[in-house]
Amino acid sequence: MPALAQRVGQAADLVTVALDELLPRAEGPEARLTEAMRYAALGPGKRLRPFFAMETGKLFDLEERPVLRAACAVECVHAYSLVHDDLPCMDDDDMRRGRPTVHKAYDEATAVLAGDALQTAAFEILSHPDTHKDGRVRADMVLRLAQAAGARGMCGGQMIDILGVRDDLGAVARMQRLKTGALIAVSFELPLIMAHAGEGERHALMTFAQDLGLAYQIVDDLLDAEGQTEQMGKAVGKDAAKGKANYVTLLGAEAARERLDLLIEQTKSHLDPFGPRADFLRDSVDFVLDRRN
Ligand code: IPE
Ligand code: IPE
Ligand code: MG
Ligand code: MG
Ligand code: MG
Repeated sequence: MPALAQRVGQAADLVTVALDELLPRAEGPEARLTEAMRYAALGPGKRLRPFFAMETGKLFDLEERPVLRAACAVECVHAYSLVHDDLPCMDDDDMRRGRPTVHKAYDEATAVLAGDALQTAAFEILSHPDTHKDGRVRADMVLRLAQAAGARGMCGGQMIDILGVRDDLGAVARMQRLKTGALIAVSFELPLIMAHAGEGERHALMTFAQDLGLAYQIVDDLLDAEGQTEQMGKAVGKDAAKGKANYVTLLGAEAARERLDLLIEQTKSHLDPFGPRADFLRDSVDFVLDRRN
């Protein structure tokens, strides 16, 4: 079995090639929109959500191609969320993945439209018969991705982030689970639906995914406080500057890291029912969270 970094890299390459095939190209004036979509989605992201989807597919011996489509759908929603998150009316960021943000490289209207069209591209990919032959399975996948991305998922979390949470760690955890955790959790859930996984395994993996999502955002917040712009490919120090509430701004980096360590142990423990079958996923928790960008 290839080493972790290699396996993450292989999944990333597969997804980038597949996205390049799946994303629309247009002739005429609307080409500006499809170029902006491609700029956002094909840029050098870590592709961790697709990696999680592909690993879950492997855990259940699913055929690679359909899972890759589901992975691309989640990455399209993620790319859209970043384009909108960077807009002046939201986090107002100029740099993403080491390059100008979409509204800087193009303009704001194009960025709004590119985000919109990436979101609809996700559902076009997911609902296509090539993703799964059974329409009921596809409908269930569409439902879960819509829920994860919507008002009671990512968008809801972004709303809470924009409104601001004051000195309430419980409320911060809820916000993080929605804005980041929901999309990470659905990366695991789509292949679980395709595999017709049993309730026990589904519950274990979803609980794992939800804690991993929270941990992932805490790491992002630590990196915002302590990382380097050159390594991160995006501005740092912006959460404190904007008065955003998160584990790090509320507790300080050291206490946030202690909570993170406990959360990581808890996250891994949810994989116990899978035994050694999930060793790879267990190891990938440290790999994914020990990131520098
Ligand atoms: C950034 O996500 C936004 C968060 C939810 C923390 P990633 O750190 O996965 O960003 P990319 O896709 O690698 O650029
Ligand atoms: C973004 O959180 C979460 C999303 C749903 C896009 P952040 O605002 O902290 O992400 P970065 O730091 O800009 O990547
Ligand atoms: Mg934000
Ligand atoms: Mg942001
Ligand atoms: Mg951040």
